[in-house]
Amino acid sequence: MPAPERIPPRRMSVTAVDLITKGELTVRGQIREASNAVLYCAVSYEGEEALCVYKPVAGEQPLWDFPDGTLAGREVAAYEISEVTGWGLVPPTVLRDGPYGEGMCQLWIEADESDTAPQLLALVEEEEPADGWKAIGFAEVGEGRTALLVHADDPRLRRLAVLDAVINNGDRKGGHLLPGAGGRLYAIDHGVTFNVDDKLRTLLWGWAGEPLPAEAVTVLDRLAGELAEGTPLTTRLAELITPAETEAVRTRVQEMRRTGLHPKPSGQWPAIPWPPV
Ligand SMILES: Nc1ncnc2c1ncn2[C@@H]1O[C@H](COP(=O)(O)OP(=O)(O)O)[C@@H](O)[C@H]1O
Ligand SMILES: [Mg+2]
Repeated sequence: MPAPERIPPRRMSVTAVDLITKGELTVRGQIREASNAVLYCAVSYEGEEALCVYKPVAGEQPLWDFPDGTLAGREVAAYEISEVTGWGLVPPTVLRDGPYGEGMCQLWIEADESDTAPQLLALVEEEEPADGWKAIGFAEVGEGRTALLVHADDPRLRRLAVLDAVINNGDRKGGHLLPGAGGRLYAIDHGVTFNVDDKLRTLLWGWAGEPLPAEAVTVLDRLAGELAEGTPLTTRLAELITPAETEAVRTRVQEMRRTGLHPKPSGQWPAIPWPPV
């Protein structure tokens, strides 16, 4: 019997960022339930292929509280900050040209929707969250009834709560949490972030007012250093958000380091997105 042919090891020289930045983009479909134009695409570069979303700036829905045409840059800025944390919560996201002009391109995450995927959110009849859960607040569920909305007491969600506080996320819904392969958790949809006003609107309030865990303190210290003038992060942010918005990131990071606490709702803005998914 002839010896089996050797299969050359697959070349992995192309990083995900290279792939989505330089690859050829082919639109395969549009995601209907999105508020902005969200195109589901394939991208290929040097023999590697991946799936991604492409949100052209031209397809961004105007908003009263964010300047037009800036959502794509905010999505990329959220990724850049996530990379500095080392938590890898935001899938690779870049700005690039595409069939409908400049937009953001983000690696597609195949969410684990099996029954074994950990449950992250729930509505329960009890007054207090069970062990392993944190309370978000009471919600009207129709016919005058209320139920307690809870999220899992999960360290990955806790990291995300810190990241969202840093980027001032105005829309952290349940549908934006994607459990990926191997126990990873990814977060998507970061268009309404980095406003100079406090707009933190999220489901992840379960730790509000509690001391930050040690790993978050370490990450905030590192971020404070990386946000100094002239660093690669600051240079990159200058291409994506305004100087005042970068300054507001510094202020939020400093405030969390000063208090050592997870922030609480500002009271100026609906703190919980509704519907929650
Ligand atoms: N990187 C991604 N990986 C997997 N699914 C995604 C990704 N980005 C978007 N989606 C899917 O597309 C939907 C719409 O995207 P979203 O970012 O919420 O758009 P919009 O800017 O309109 O709010 C999401 O709810 C999700 O189902
Ligand atoms: Mg959305």
